[in-house]
Amino acid sequence: MKIAVFASGTGSNFTALVQAIKQGQLAATIELLVCDQPDALVLKRAEAERIPIVCLKPSDFATKTAYEEQVKEALILHEIEFIVLAGYMRLIGPTLLEPYKNRIINIHPSLLPAFPGRTSIADAFDAGMSESGITIHYIDEGIDTGPIIYQKAVPILKTDTFATFTERMHAVEHTIYPMVLEKIFQEGASNEKKSLN
Ligand code: GRF
Repeated sequence: MKIAVFASGTGSNFTALVQAIKQGQLAATIELLVCDQPDALVLKRAEAERIPIVCLKPSDFATKTAYEEQVKEALILHEIEFIVLAGYMRLIGPTLLEPYKNRIINIHPSLLPAFPGRTSIADAFDAGMSESGITIHYIDEGIDTGPIIYQKAVPILKTDTFATFTERMHAVEHTIYPMVLEKIFQEGASNEKKSLN
């Protein structure tokens, strides 16, 4: 499966996907990293892996549509079959949503629909919850609202600090994202086979 990873920040999930591919746990190739932040650490990670990068600043474009049209051109050029969001801090608009319907997946650090948005780890921790978790879901036009594929609860221990809880959340993300993607890609392949028979 040819995938593009979209990311805006640190890129620890990007690296988890790279490792899973190298270890034969995820049958995919990352053909492209799409990034909207010229200073993001994820760019260094992609460079180190010699993965092609498209880094565009949305503010350099007159409209969101114009920005996404250029991203789309790169996706077509690299024959991307699936878009994997990994900390991409931007809503996907119709320019990409329509051609990649049901082929854009996101990971979000909460048990959606609880705690959508950018500060979900802190929000769950500050709310004094005894657990939060990770959600992997298809993308739609809303903020963290698309159909849910998989969820995994993560406990918040009495002894946790925000840092220890955050670390546990990320560790779970890094394990389940490659695993769930592999399952989706395998199902996609077997459905294609069925339709050919
Ligand atoms: C992750 O917590 C992910 O769930 C969220 O953004 C964060 C990205 O972290 N969507 P990283 O850049 O992969 O380290």
